[in-house]
Amino acid sequence: MPEFQTWIAAHQQRFEEVLRGLLPSADLAPQRLHAAMRYSVLDGGKRVRPLLAFAAGELVGADIARVNYAAAAVEMIHAYSLVHDDMPCMDDDVLRRGKPTCHVEYDEATALLVGDALQSLAFQMLSDVPLTADPVRQLKMVKLLAVASGSRGMAGGQAFDLASVGKQLNLSELEFMHIHKTGALIRAAILLGAYCGDALSDAQIDKLDHYGKCVGLAFQVVDDVLDAEADTATLGKTAGKDAGNDKPTYVTLLGAVQAKKMAAELHGDALESLAEFGDRARRLRELADFIVMRKY
Ligand code: IPE
Ligand code: IPE
Ligand code: MG
Ligand code: MG
Ligand code: MG
Repeated sequence: MPEFQTWIAAHQQRFEEVLRGLLPSADLAPQRLHAAMRYSVLDGGKRVRPLLAFAAGELVGADIARVNYAAAAVEMIHAYSLVHDDMPCMDDDVLRRGKPTCHVEYDEATALLVGDALQSLAFQMLSDVPLTADPVRQLKMVKLLAVASGSRGMAGGQAFDLASVGKQLNLSELEFMHIHKTGALIRAAILLGAYCGDALSDAQIDKLDHYGKCVGLAFQVVDDVLDAEADTATLGKTAGKDAGNDKPTYVTLLGAVQAKKMAAELHGDALESLAEFGDRARRLRELADFIVMRKY
């Protein structure tokens, strides 16, 4: 296995155990809600956002025990966003991470509560233990995730997505939607990982954030392409769902060839903003490659 694949697999495996320990036990009341939370977070997903947090943590020499909490917070918000995204009132999907979606396996009310509870738990993760020596910086981290998840971040992007069904968006509208619904959390994952370690200068944080903006947008461009080109078994979610739901995507606007070209350009831009970090940013570079070249 190439060295980077080993790094990914080791972190995925290790982080699975971290999440198992941080999620409430299914024996604890209310059992059904806790079981549904564990069902939605564990045993699935590429864990791209946690991996980005770990890579950013490595860049600044952060204590991995701290980055675990930041990564868990982001992954819990992400898992909640997927549970809600799949509900009948949103994308109405039955398959996620190769399993029946939460509302299918449990019920809609439980799926709603899983999202509510995971969102709260995410913020508990950021406020339970010291994640940096500077409490002001930790407050900043809490705010960062709040903004990235809220109406000016992921939830706002999802609102824009729903309001766009059946419409033809222009390039800047589509970019706005993707940067919010998907980019915001990816960006937050990187900065939260970085804030767990030695302080970077404002200029360095800006460089990292630009990297995050580029890979965050590229991630959703590739998601759009895969929705159109990959199959359900490979994706672990229903292929062709965007066309079925009449969603504007980079594929409907530009065609798959141009969409892939755009992802490649964003990839180049992302790598450029890491130039000054040298070898310390190796994992972030490799993750940018992975995000753009992935097949699922
Ligand atoms: C899917 O995200 C939803 C988007 C934001 C595009 P991922 O592709 O990261 O889903 P998992 O976590 O690997 O299942
Ligand atoms: C999902 O976008 C974005 C969020 C969940 C915030 P999509 O609707 O394209 O994600 P998939 O394709 O269902 O994973
Ligand atoms: Mg959606
Ligand atoms: Mg969806
Ligand atoms: Mg999609």
